[in-house]
Amino acid sequence: MSVKPWWQVAVPHKDIREGRLEEAIFAANLGDVYQNKGPIDYRDPEIFFKKTYFTAGLTNLIGAVLSKLSGKGKGDTVIQIQTPFGGGKTHALLALYHTFKHGNKIAHLPTVKKILKENKIENIPETKVVVFVGEYADPLKGRTLWGEIAYQLKSYKLMEEYDKKRVAPGKELIADLLSKNQPVLILIDELLQYVVRTMGVKVEEGTLKGQVQAFLKALTEAVASADNCALIATLPSSVSEGFEEAEKAERILGELQKIFGRVEKIYTPVEGEEIYEIVRKRLFEELGDVSEHRKVAEEYFSLYQKLGEDIPSECREVAYKERMVRA
Ligand SMILES: Nc1ncnc2c1ncn2[C@@H]1O[C@H](COP(=O)(O)OP(=O)(O)OP(=O)(O)O)[C@@H](O)[C@H]1O
Ligand SMILES: [Mg+2]
Repeated sequence: MSVKPWWQVAVPHKDIREGRLEEAIFAANLGDVYQNKGPIDYRDPEIFFKKTYFTAGLTNLIGAVLSKLSGKGKGDTVIQIQTPFGGGKTHALLALYHTFKHGNKIAHLPTVKKILKENKIENIPETKVVVFVGEYADPLKGRTLWGEIAYQLKSYKLMEEYDKKRVAPGKELIADLLSKNQPVLILIDELLQYVVRTMGVKVEEGTLKGQVQAFLKALTEAVASADNCALIATLPSSVSEGFEEAEKAERILGELQKIFGRVEKIYTPVEGEEIYEIVRKRLFEELGDVSEHRKVAEEYFSLYQKLGEDIPSECREVAYKERMVRA
């Protein structure tokens, strides 16, 4: 078999070439970006967009939110992003964050222009972006979800009493908060982690968990009936790992899905073979000659043919060769 080694065909990104790739880079963190911390790849809107592969799901998601916040009256308003661990949930929230927070820095990029054009939108609307990251929030001492949203919208007074008593405000007050500040984009990451932790905080007869769930019900309804607001929250598609009390977490996940399920639309940012394109985009600056990719795939394919029964049968099908070319 004579094929060129991969490093003679494709050029990895500078950080990878120089061996500077850190582990932190593989976990997107919305809380860090909000505080302008962490790897530049996520923090800088332009670098972030250049390293993002625009999957069909992500393109649709950005388009839907742009439509809604432009006041076009269409587009989904309450959106749940659900994937397994590492499935691109936070990455999708970051893409929305940068689109609306730093529209002026990314509007010139071809990928963004294309999304605007496809949705018949001239400019990215000036929007107030609210960020809540469950992992960062302190259910006992920090602001509540409603306190934090009001605080970031510079309308804390409106929710102060509810925040201090840790009691959920009603739908009218939330609607009032939103209508005063439209267009508003609310991004909630790691919601399940937060709600699991609110179980331990006593509020009146019950716990903060009950209050948070009542608030989420009212919030999803208020957002759905507002003209210019969108709420995007992420949930894992199952609780298999990462939780100490998996059973409780599983039950709460079901409850949250129900709350969102009444008004929401589910988006999946990465599907099937799109994963190859993402990994390529993240690792390589330049992919080199496509005919070289094909040559490598052909060589492996004929090798697999020769090996016959020693190799799983799917690897000997032509479709597998095409997958190798793309990978
Ligand atoms: N469309 C994409 N283009 C480029 N990179 C992506 C894309 N989607 C996800 N990634 C990258 O894949 C990695 C995992 O994605 P991400 O952290 O968003 O997953 P997650 O669903 O939030 O994971 P977790 O369940 O652990 O919170 C990150 O490094 C992220 O930047
Ligand atoms: Mg995440």
